[in-house]
Amino acid sequence: MEKNIILIGFMGCGKSSVGVKLSWVLKLPVIDTDKLIEARLKMRINQIFEEKGEEFFRCMETQVLEELSLKKNRKIISVGGGTPIREENRELLRKSGIVVYLRIKPSSVLERLRDDDTRPLLKCDNPLEQIEKLMSSRKAFYEECADITIDVDDLQTEDIVAVIQDVYRKGIKR
Ligand code: S3P
Repeated sequence: MEKNIILIGFMGCGKSSVGVKLSWVLKLPVIDTDKLIEARLKMRINQIFEEKGEEFFRCMETQVLEELSLKKNRKIISVGGGTPIREENRELLRKSGIVVYLRIKPSSVLERLRDDDTRPLLKCDNPLEQIEKLMSSRKAFYEECADITIDVDDLQTEDIVAVIQDVYRKGIKR
């Protein structure tokens, strides 16, 4: 059986909430890399982007992923929506466990994040256009990493957890 479960997907797809619920169901610890980075730097993501820049944040993502890939304990890892854009991160994700891609449509992202101001990349005049642009540039990266893909637009967190639980129990053959 694979060791870790890694949750990837665009902002707002539910990685963090699925991670927390899955951790309850499978009795495994969950690590959210965004939260880990925020705790380490004692800064919120917005502040990190503003003061240190996106490139610095991307380097932190890689560093954190490298550390997690070396840890032996079985766990659930949810990563930021942009983590798979770096090739080295995609390799780290693949070697760290079963990669579950929570696929979402741009319109659902907009709906879910309408009143959210915690995503620096979506602070712009036309967030839908920005979501579509980012998503189309990332689509292939998500697909390249994914062992399984779940379309989450019309699913509740519990439904997504049930699908992942089932796959995890049966195991994945690459
Ligand atoms: C980002 C997604 C965010 C966070 C940062 C950058 C991205 O995480 O890492 O704002 O590039 O898509 P979520 O996907 O958890 O929102």
